[in-house]
Amino acid sequence: MKYYLALSLFMAAGIVNASSSNVTIPAQTNIEISVVENLIIYEWQLICYQHSESGGTHPEGKEACSEISQLQVSLGDAIEKAEPSGICPTIVRPANLTIDGIVGGKETLFTEEYTNSCYLKNTMSGAELPSLVPFNEDGTYNTGKSE
Ligand SMILES: *[C@@H]1O[C@H](CO)[C@@H](O)[C@H](O)[C@H]1NC(C)=O
Ligand SMILES: *[C@@H]1O[C@H](CO)[C@@H](O)[C@H](O)[C@H]1NC(C)=O
Repeated sequence: MKYYLALSLFMAAGIVNASSSNVTIPAQTNIEISVVENLIIYEWQLICYQHSESGGTHPEGKEACSEISQLQVSLGDAIEKAEPSGICPTIVRPANLTIDGIVGGKETLFTEEYTNSCYLKNTMSGAELPSLVPFNEDGTYNTGKSE
């Protein structure tokens, strides 16, 4: 009994020491977002640091990081349970979304197929993540910022 307690205290102390000796604050969110539509792959990397700093190729990284930080549920739950925020044409032109990486320190892999990019866009808005997949005003994907 005593042995195990001592061992776990020792291990806990070891973990604390290891992290406090590293002055780099790790990114809380680091994801690859990709959409496959009509055989074209659109990809963005989004990294969120503390104090609203962002990195990666995402053109609206700051906004997207702010939206993620305000989620009350996991990213996957937020998107899965969201209702599209507006009306879309019913034309079938599948847009497959994949989000892969770490969100708020948690391993995340989310994939979903949408009828078309309008449903994808409006579902993101319904999930209160309107910047996560960046769109231009005309509804095309915003691949703006390159590395
Ligand atoms: C500090 O932590 C970061 C992120 O986990 C890691 O990439 C880096 O290698 C670490 N640096 C040292 C000196 O341990
Ligand atoms: C999109 O996702 C669906 C369902 O998982 C899959 O059947 C389809 O092959 C995917 N399309 C592409 C282009 O990846």
